[in-house]
Amino acid sequence: MRSPAGGETTGVADKWDGKSLDSIATVESMEDWAAAESERLLAGTGDRWLHVQGVAHRVRQVLPILAREEQPVLLAAAYLHDIGYSPELRRTGLHQLDGARYLRNLGHERLARLVAHHSEARYELEARGFGEELAAFEREKSPVADALTYCDLLNGPTGCPVSIEERVREVERRYGQGTIVDALRMALPALRAAVERTERLLRERADAATG
Ligand SMILES: [Fe+2]
Repeated sequence: MRSPAGGETTGVADKWDGKSLDSIATVESMEDWAAAESERLLAGTGDRWLHVQGVAHRVRQVLPILAREEQPVLLAAAYLHDIGYSPELRRTGLHQLDGARYLRNLGHERLARLVAHHSEARYELEARGFGEELAAFEREKSPVADALTYCDLLNGPTGCPVSIEERVREVERRYGQGTIVDALRMALPALRAAVERTERLLRERADAATG
């Protein structure tokens, strides 16, 4: 079986449930593979693919704040962070968890952890009774994790740039009052902190560039 990027795979895409599977054997480019996998899984799910492309576009603007070896990780995570919305991957109905489990089964452990916790998912998952399942994925605290949240939060459902306030209002409109919106409000201080840390790194980078 060929991966979307052209490398040999172990045939995991259609049988990932519960098996210990090897990682993709050869991948020419992590970004190319992540983009193709995300498109394959999300292109038929309405605006999700547009949103993900917007997040990936935003990520390219923040890449310079990261060490070179970290940049492909953030790009891949941007493409993959919402793949759990794909009907093909749906198990718990919580996209962070379903996406993370899929990636773990592919052998992409770091990407799985980043996806599991993106945009402070712990608030929603704990509120919905999945805190224990989420705890199976260690939470990474790093500029990569912050930048993923920054780019996800500041891009709307169709991939257009939005402010935090607009994003919150959009989630309220989409889901109405209830657990998801309550969890988002609880997550807001942590989300703002991730945004501020990323903005600080962007300012430092810009200052260094202008001397
Ligand atoms: Fe997202």
